[in-house]
Amino acid sequence: MKIVSDASELAAFQGCAFVPTMGALHEGHLSLIREAKKTGRPVIVSIFVNPEQFAPEEDLDKYPRNLEEDCAFAAQVGADVVFAPSVTTMYPAAPESIALPKAAIEPHLEDACRPTHFRGVCVAVARLFDLVQPAITVFGLKDYQQFLVIKQLIAQEKDRWGDLQIVGAEIIRDDDGVAMSSRNVYLSTDQRKQALGLHKAVRCTTEKAMLEVLDQHSLDVEYAVLRSSDSLLAPVAGQTMRALVAARLGHIRLIDNAEIQA
Ligand code: PAJ
Repeated sequence: MKIVSDASELAAFQGCAFVPTMGALHEGHLSLIREAKKTGRPVIVSIFVNPEQFAPEEDLDKYPRNLEEDCAFAAQVGADVVFAPSVTTMYPAAPESIALPKAAIEPHLEDACRPTHFRGVCVAVARLFDLVQPAITVFGLKDYQQFLVIKQLIAQEKDRWGDLQIVGAEIIRDDDGVAMSSRNVYLSTDQRKQALGLHKAVRCTTEKAMLEVLDQHSLDVEYAVLRSSDSLLAPVAGQTMRALVAARLGHIRLIDNAEIQA
C-alpha cells in the first residue's frame, strides 16, 4: 500500500473507489474500505482532519490522530493508497465557496445544530473529489444527513466529477449496539451505558417514545425525529422513514439513525 501526501501521485489512480475519512479508523471505516474493494477498482482512502468542518468550540485540537496505525488498518483490508494531504495541499488558497445542497440547509437537524459544518464538509469533499477523480465513492449511513448532502452535491456538480457514483454503507455497531464512532474513545464506562440510549431510541416508532428512551438514559437531546428517508423533511405516508437522534454527554456529541420498519 502506498502512502501519499502529494496530489500529483494520485494521477495513476483516476477512476478508483474512494473512501474519505478523518482517520482514527475503526471497523465502521474499514467496512467502507471493504465495500470499495468489492468494486474491483483500486481503493484510495483519504485521511484529513478537516479544520473547515469544526466550529471554534468543537474538538478539532483533541480529535484523535494516529496516521501510522490508520495506515496499518487500511492496508489490512486491502486499500491501495492512503492519501494524507497537508492543509496547504487541501487549501492552497482560501477554501472555495460552494452552493450548499438543500439537504444541508432544510432539515434543521445537523445543519441547525452545527450551522457551519456542512459547508466545511462540502468544501473538503469537493476538493478531495477534484484531486482524486474517483469513479465511485463510499460514505457511511452513520452520518445519514452527510450522505444525502454529498449525494446532492454530486448531482449538483454533475459535470465536474463525471458519472461519479455514491454508495451508502450500513452502520457498523459494537456488540452492545452503540454505533462505532471515532468519538467513542472519549466515553467513560458510565457514559458508554448512557450512549446505548441512542441505539434504543432509533428503534422506536414514535418521536414521543424516542424522547422517553433518551430521557431514561439521561441524555441531553439535540433532536430525536422521524423523517422521510429521501429528503429528511416531514415524513410522507407510504415513503420510507428514518429515525435520527443527536445527543450530548457532557462535551461529547453522538449521533445515530435507523430506517423505520413501518
Ligand atoms: P469520518 O467521521 O472519519 O467518517 C468517514 C466515513 O466513515 C463517513 O462516511 C462516515 O459516515 C463513515 N462511518 C463512521 N462511522 C461509521 C460506522 N459506525 N458505520 C459505518 N460508517 C461509518 O465523515 C467524515 O469523516 C468527514 O465529514 C469527511 C466526509 C471525511 C469530510 O471531511
